[in-house]
Amino acid sequence: MEIKNFFLLTLTTLSPGASRAHPGMLEALAGCSRASEKRDTAELLADLKTLPDSALSPAGWTIKNILLANRAAVSPQDLSTVYKPPGPLGSSECRGDTCCVWKYIADAMAAAFQGKKQCNELARQAVRLGFHDAGTWSKSLGGGGADGSVVLSTSELARSDNRGLEIAAARMAGWYAEFHSYGVGMADLIQVGATVATVSCPLGPRSRVFVGRNDSITPAPSGRLPSVDADAESLVELFADKTIGVSELVALVGAHTASVQRFVDPLRVGSPQDSTPGTWDVLFYNQMISANPPADVFQFPSDLALSRYSAAHESWQTFANGQAVWNDAYAAAYVRLSVLGVKHINDLTECTGVLPLAH
Ligand code: HEM
Ligand SMILES: *[C@@H]1O[C@H](CO)[C@@H](O)[C@H](O)[C@H]1NC(C)=O
Repeated sequence: MEIKNFFLLTLTTLSPGASRAHPGMLEALAGCSRASEKRDTAELLADLKTLPDSALSPAGWTIKNILLANRAAVSPQDLSTVYKPPGPLGSSECRGDTCCVWKYIADAMAAAFQGKKQCNELARQAVRLGFHDAGTWSKSLGGGGADGSVVLSTSELARSDNRGLEIAAARMAGWYAEFHSYGVGMADLIQVGATVATVSCPLGPRSRVFVGRNDSITPAPSGRLPSVDADAESLVELFADKTIGVSELVALVGAHTASVQRFVDPLRVGSPQDSTPGTWDVLFYNQMISANPPADVFQFPSDLALSRYSAAHESWQTFANGQAVWNDAYAAAYVRLSVLGVKHINDLTECTGVLPLAH
């Protein structure tokens, strides 16, 4: 830990002028921090593990550096790029540019996710749906991943894990019917949907977003998603097998800042997981570690366990005290989650500019 913190500090100090540092030196530092890094894996995935940098596409390079947590090279969020479609939907200009159709889809999604000064239930479900499609992937066992199967297969949605995702799944099926003839797939719709949904919540991150995934109608293996009654160690182990480290897991469960439960305790249907559901603030982290959380907040046993787990403590505290730090950490972890199970990550295309701007 001591050593790791030292290197993190050193990297932070170096980052503004990273180009001045000897290139091998940064690599050596990254190597050291990886070796002693207990919380995050910074692990590469799929084709990015073997492709040389010279063979990387722009999206491949960006995703690789996000996975490596190389914040000096790339930011996992992009708060300003705005994409202007070259023509109306269906025009040859629009068909000629991969991101064009996604601009029309993202606009439709943003309108559908807008609540009164907050993101609505459809948005919250869309965030969770993105997790439940991608999160079925396992490093050790393979199968599953961000392939659209949670909606496209005939059986996945009916699993108890996926209770409460019906509205978002139906809406995705609707958008699929509307846009499939423009080359749009379900896996991308679900991941773009989750990303549009987070930035539609007040204070939500504008995570970089990529398209080009392949779809699958084969149901993902079951038993790959976390139980609300799991203890911290089994949660950490489950996510480690998805290359998601402890601080990434802590960043991702912060999505419960927006959430409202219906099926954990049927007697408390509609109870939020912090006092401001539909807002992407850090109140969730603070109320989880408070000695007196408000009585109308329903805390998940899994979140309680994680918030009290020693290896999670530092990140939990950091996110509780830092909206901007958390947004960046969430965005980076979500980019990782959103490419789990994708075989040729280097074939993806970045379309972040189609996202609504944060508000
Ligand atoms: C420790 C792992 C996790 C567990 C055990 C867990 C469990 C749950 C449960 C039980 C619900 C309530 C479902 C209901 O009763 O309607 C829920 C809601 C939700 N979860 Fe998680 N979750 C985990 C991680 C995540 C992650 C990684 C994300 C996103 C990146 C996420 C996003 C959400 C969202 C947005 C909701 C709210 C859905 C709504 O309001 O309709 N969760 N989660
Ligand atoms: C999708 O599948 C095709 C055919 O197997 C493959 O060439 C392509 O690289 C795959 N795309 C991704 C993003 O994995």
